[in-house]
Amino acid sequence: MENNKVTISVIKADVGGLCGHTLAPDELLEACEAVLEEAVDEIILDYYVTRCGDDIDLIMSHKLGCDNEKVHGLAWKAFEEATKIAKELKLYGAGQDLLSDSFSGNVRGMGPGCAEMEFVERKSEPIVVFCCDKTDPTAFNYPLFKMFADPFNTAGLVFDPSMISGFRFEVHDVVGHKKVFLDTPEEMYMLLALIGDYEKYAIKRVYRRRDNEIAAVVSTEKLNYIAGEYVGKDDPVAIVRAQSGFPAVGEVLEPFANPHFVPGWMRGSHWGPIMPVGEEDATPTRFDGPARVIALGFQVCDGMLIGPNDLFADRGFDKAREKALEMADIIRRMGPFQPHRLPATMMEYTTVPKVLEALEDRFIPLEGLELIEEGGITRKDRGDVE
Ligand code: F6R
Ligand code: MG
Ligand code: MG
Repeated sequence: MENNKVTISVIKADVGGLCGHTLAPDELLEACEAVLEEAVDEIILDYYVTRCGDDIDLIMSHKLGCDNEKVHGLAWKAFEEATKIAKELKLYGAGQDLLSDSFSGNVRGMGPGCAEMEFVERKSEPIVVFCCDKTDPTAFNYPLFKMFADPFNTAGLVFDPSMISGFRFEVHDVVGHKKVFLDTPEEMYMLLALIGDYEKYAIKRVYRRRDNEIAAVVSTEKLNYIAGEYVGKDDPVAIVRAQSGFPAVGEVLEPFANPHFVPGWMRGSHWGPIMPVGEEDATPTRFDGPARVIALGFQVCDGMLIGPNDLFADRGFDKAREKALEMADIIRRMGPFQPHRLPATMMEYTTVPKVLEALEDRFIPLEGLELIEEGGITRKDRGDVE
């Protein structure tokens, strides 16, 4: 039977930067393009290769469904070819996101990040692909909530009858490795109770409740958990379907007009604003940032990717960029102090345990407490200790 569904796969990896962690150079993108070009009509229907900072993003359309071995293998091969060049040029962090020497069926858990969705193409199928650098997948919690659950952002939630029944959020507990589905508008407060906590919860998918159609998907692989040690922040990608019963393209982009704070930035260990930019400006250099997000609009047409339209290149986002830079100035002043610095559990790497180890023998009891104990009121009396 003819498969009437199309799959969009966005698979990303950082396989080397020029210089430091700032940019995946053209040579690497070209290497990936050559591999994907070979696979047109064999594995994929169409592709577009882009970058955000030091991450290469392979945007592919095909008929093989999500988690397909051939498609994932193709992405892996593209990253391997790019890695060869990265190593030849001694680019920084060459091959860093390919955590294994060999591919074993799926890129998940092997370093690259991946967002995929399969759907029956509508009469007209506008999608927006977001690619980020210097942040992590929770960067999408706030904008996806606004797109699909906030009527002050998305007028369609109020005025489009096909959206009035709301959306279903698939939320992942990325630490506990479990998931929960929450329906808006009814369960909005419970949803917020979870997704406002970037340490633990990430929105993985959003569905339209009326017909369970997939509306959005985010890459939520966390490299630091996968590898058990620091190997690079999992700069995320996302796909969002737009218009005719989904938020309009402008509603999909609107949450980024007022930049929010995300974890990431320098050493994956700082809060900072996420700045919406066109492809040309996806070059994070100030304090290795601030975090960037690009938004590429495509029309999917019989499985082909028409476009992209570089949506954040629009002057309409100039002010958002200015605001993001102001927010960057303000929070940078805090240097190594919170709230610029992330809490210990969210830092990509930290010397604090080593500092504590080195100081172990130098910590002495607080004098005040000794005096209290000498004066007869012991900590035990107060119930502070057993
Ligand atoms: C953040 C990032 C960079 C690096 C930083 C130090 O995600 O990639 O900010 O963490 O440039 O890099 P290393 O430890 O490789 O010197
Ligand atoms: Mg990097
Ligand atoms: Mg990166």
